[in-house]
Amino acid sequence: MAETVRTIERIGARASGHVVDVRDHEAVQALMQRVYDEHGSLDILIALAGGSLGTPRDLDDITPEDLDLVVDVNVKGTFHCCRSVLPFMYRARRGAIVTTSSIGGRQPSPVTGVPYAASKAAIVGMTKKLAKEAGSHGVRVNSVAPGLFLTGRLQGMFDAMEESERRDVLDSIPLGRVPEIREAVDPVLFLAGDESSYITGVVLDINGGRFMPL
Ligand SMILES: NC(=O)c1ccc[n+]([C@@H]2O[C@H](COP(=O)([O-])OP(=O)(O)OC[C@H]3O[C@@H](n4cnc5c(N)ncnc54)[C@H](O)[C@@H]3O)[C@@H](O)[C@H]2O)c1
Repeated sequence: MAETVRTIERIGARASGHVVDVRDHEAVQALMQRVYDEHGSLDILIALAGGSLGTPRDLDDITPEDLDLVVDVNVKGTFHCCRSVLPFMYRARRGAIVTTSSIGGRQPSPVTGVPYAASKAAIVGMTKKLAKEAGSHGVRVNSVAPGLFLTGRLQGMFDAMEESERRDVLDSIPLGRVPEIREAVDPVLFLAGDESSYITGVVLDINGGRFMPL
């Protein structure tokens, strides 16, 4: 986090870094107030925290605690973050929120389990309902649904799969390659920035064509 702050400062922008457990709504609320006090506005929220969080993929192995963890972080955590920034954005009559769904919430994925699928599908519903409510306040709410990006977390899960499963996943990507991380970052920046000023309530699939809804 300190390195990220330094990188931002090196390009001449102001930055501060803080740690918060997104499951703790009071802590999230206090953090948003602190960031507002430090910087004078809250214009963009990128709600990224989440994942399978080390929970198993196979149904027989999933415990109630696994389900609670994934729902608490992915669904409730995203809600707490959105809920806490909206009053600041409403007051300014502008703002952009980008939530993080997943290809695993858009169609059954061989990489992730049922709790993850349920939580990332919930993000889609949450995003659309928030977009509907926030629109008249000048605030846009959109989501990204990345496919397979081999971050540290995903590399481990991908490596743990059978060779045939790995091949099936790769064969199902029309662009025929695994993406660079930057290829998820640019779409998030697009949805967060003024280039998408008339776009709200969408889910932007970033998956090389692996899932193509009509
Ligand atoms: N990597 C992929 O292929 C992929 C695909 C689809 C969706 N996603 C989504 O993108 C997001 C980032 O995934 P990633 O692959 O970079 O994983 P990652 O594990 O590298 O990043 C997840 C981050 O969430 C943070 N986090 C976990 N629990 C938290 C909590 N309770 N409070 C605050 N922060 C918490 C972790 O500290 C970590 O920094 C996740 O929401 C994930 O579901 C990733």
